[in-house]
Amino acid sequence: MHIVRKVTDDITWIGSDDSKVRTFEDHYPVDGMTYNSYLLKDTEKTVLFDTCDKSQNKIFLDNLKYALDGRKPDIIVVHHAEPDHSATLGFVMSLYPDAKIASSAQAKKMIEQFTGVDISDRHILLKEGTEISTGKHTLKFISAPMVHWPEVMMTYDSCDKILFSADAFGKFGSRNGKLFDGEVSFDSELENHRRYYTNIVGKYGTQVMSVLKKAGLLDIKLICPLHGYIWRDKISDIIEKYSKWASYEPEIKGAFIAYSSVYGGTQEAAEYLANKLSENGVDALIKDVSHTDKSYLISSSFKYSNIVIATTTYNCEIFETMNEFLSCLVSHAVKNRKYSIIENGSWAPAAGKLIKEKLDGLGGSEYVGNTVTIKSFPSDENLAELDKLASDIKSSL
Ligand code: FEO
Repeated sequence: MHIVRKVTDDITWIGSDDSKVRTFEDHYPVDGMTYNSYLLKDTEKTVLFDTCDKSQNKIFLDNLKYALDGRKPDIIVVHHAEPDHSATLGFVMSLYPDAKIASSAQAKKMIEQFTGVDISDRHILLKEGTEISTGKHTLKFISAPMVHWPEVMMTYDSCDKILFSADAFGKFGSRNGKLFDGEVSFDSELENHRRYYTNIVGKYGTQVMSVLKKAGLLDIKLICPLHGYIWRDKISDIIEKYSKWASYEPEIKGAFIAYSSVYGGTQEAAEYLANKLSENGVDALIKDVSHTDKSYLISSSFKYSNIVIATTTYNCEIFETMNEFLSCLVSHAVKNRKYSIIENGSWAPAAGKLIKEKLDGLGGSEYVGNTVTIKSFPSDENLAELDKLASDIKSSL
């Protein structure tokens, strides 16, 4: 059994598609996941680029054997030592003991930590600018620390003009049998790309910008990531999105209203505000943080220019699920957003002040309008304050 596909005359996709898996990294909800691996069969050397997740061991090894067609890998390039791409490396190293392992110094340490095998006698050290000739192809290595771990390298193949981009330009979700970007609608997959990027590497915008700068100097015909589709037809579209995400520039001028509500009063305020914003021609999106996975909340926070935090006070603190979301905003370093606050509390509302303290550490945060303070359910006075807030948000766009 094998499932493979040609990428170019010399390079074959030998990855795997786990359409059963429902969480990535054991917590992000996904509808399947693709783990990409590629095999270069050149005139002098055979190179395997990365392996795959342990759940895909059988099909991956079948694909590798089939694509090798009697050859053996001379070099195994490990772009990224995270186990979703290297869990099967131990098996492959045992099957092909003569194959050299090419990676950064930090990846070597991680491979040894994960496999328990000292690979010093078969290791090729990759640094920024290292080149390896395999016959027709010359592979040039690019350091890409923190995209997504510190050991990450990318490879540029100057013969086929391919950038092997590690986790960058990947996505959540199954590939549904498709391999190239032109086989799917860009817009229909955009949330899978956004949610993947913002949650996995969203914090490391500076490092991503640095890699985008290096990539901008290359003549790229194909981008081969470790997840999702191979980019061929829409490279400029995805690079434009990455440039926005990495520089924390919102895609949409509008308001993402994140609320938590115990008995419905805060929900009413959030819905009143959304209605008023839409009436004023402002794009609004509402999500209940108590019933929405945080990965979707982070994705929406990267997408919108304005974020409205509407929540109750609970045990003299910010309501728990909202507190978790705000911690996520801080840990993902979502910068340059305009915040508005609606606080609720039946006897001692205090969430607004605590929210500001929590968001203080985020660079470029601004506050729009006055904090609206609700006691249990919105009063007529509150509705007037929400009207004013809608108007202030519109003016801030
Ligand atoms: Fe797809 Fe960072 O591993």
